[in-house]
Amino acid sequence: MTIIELPGLIDPHVHLREPGATHKEDWDTGTQSALAGGITTVLAMPNTAPPIVDADALKLTLDAAAEKCRCDYGIYLGATKENVQSGLALTDRVAGMKMYLDDTYGTLEIDWRDLTTLNAHMAAWPKDMPLVCHAEERTTAAAIMTAFVNDRSVHIAHVSRKSEIDIIRAAKEKGIKVTCEVGPHHLFMSEDDFEWLAPGYREVRPRLATKADQEALWQAIADGVVDCIATDHAPHLPSEKDRENPSPGYPQLEVSLALMLRGVQEGRLTLEQLIPLMSTNIRRIFNLPEQPDTVVEVDLDAKWIVKAAEMKSRCGWSPYEGWELKGQVKKVTLRGEVAFENGEVTAPKGFGKNVAELRNK
Ligand code: DOR
Ligand code: ZN
Repeated sequence: MTIIELPGLIDPHVHLREPGATHKEDWDTGTQSALAGGITTVLAMPNTAPPIVDADALKLTLDAAAEKCRCDYGIYLGATKENVQSGLALTDRVAGMKMYLDDTYGTLEIDWRDLTTLNAHMAAWPKDMPLVCHAEERTTAAAIMTAFVNDRSVHIAHVSRKSEIDIIRAAKEKGIKVTCEVGPHHLFMSEDDFEWLAPGYREVRPRLATKADQEALWQAIADGVVDCIATDHAPHLPSEKDRENPSPGYPQLEVSLALMLRGVQEGRLTLEQLIPLMSTNIRRIFNLPEQPDTVVEVDLDAKWIVKAAEMKSRCGWSPYEGWELKGQVKKVTLRGEVAFENGEVTAPKGFGKNVAELRNK
């Protein structure tokens, strides 16, 4: 047994499905899943039903979150053609803005050719608040360029290809304010895995890429070009994966740390690099408040087999079913209270706090 203490991990990209699809996940099961994975803060995406694009929808999800969350949370406002100005009234309640510039799940996609809307949000959204783009290939360059000309920062979600990480690397070298995240699925799966992944289970946006793309992402992690690991936890039921038009995405909150520890075991990165990628960089980029007296205790020697049936997520499956991982979260202390221990979540519903409220204090 080798117990190490990590700071509370932060996942800046999760889909917790409330309101609208609580049969997949809700604020309760989603934040239990986070704590089981050593994650003490989640930032939730706005592609719910209704989508979080105005005050009414935001109130719906904030009320549910306040009642049910077991770890700390933040909520993104979804960008639309219509809410460039009206969204500004909501900045005190949200963690940031999310703009979808490519193929996704839900209704929030903005036409990738619509430079006017992209540039308008880049100009209007407060410069001291995070602006996250789902961008792929050419929209990555468009997001970086519009951020640059508006003298603001932009965060590129779930980078999956060499072309994208190359342009981000080059932009950083020029001093442009761009940060980015990579998901464990793009680091541990590629098109080569289509051999064993049934059709619906191959589906995720951005898609699983080539082995060469995957290598480029690992190299960018080693080089310090990648700022964060984010799960893009996207729970859907097996019945929604097995049908025609399968829903894209993977649940990953409970495996992300252990997968990244596999990266450490394989010599892809060091433990010293993992901590900023999963915590301190994220706190800085997303301007998140400190969580005092918060510790994640991990047994680096504990081997375990991924079994979705034992997980807290409601969706009931994992793309990593049967994988043997080494490194397990044993205990999570959040703001001085034991929140997870011996496989059980002990933080009560409603224990989690909205990072926007903590930030405003
Ligand atoms: O695979 C994905 N799933 N990509 C997205 O952009 C959305 C997400 C979801 O909400 O399921
Ligand atoms: Zn996502």
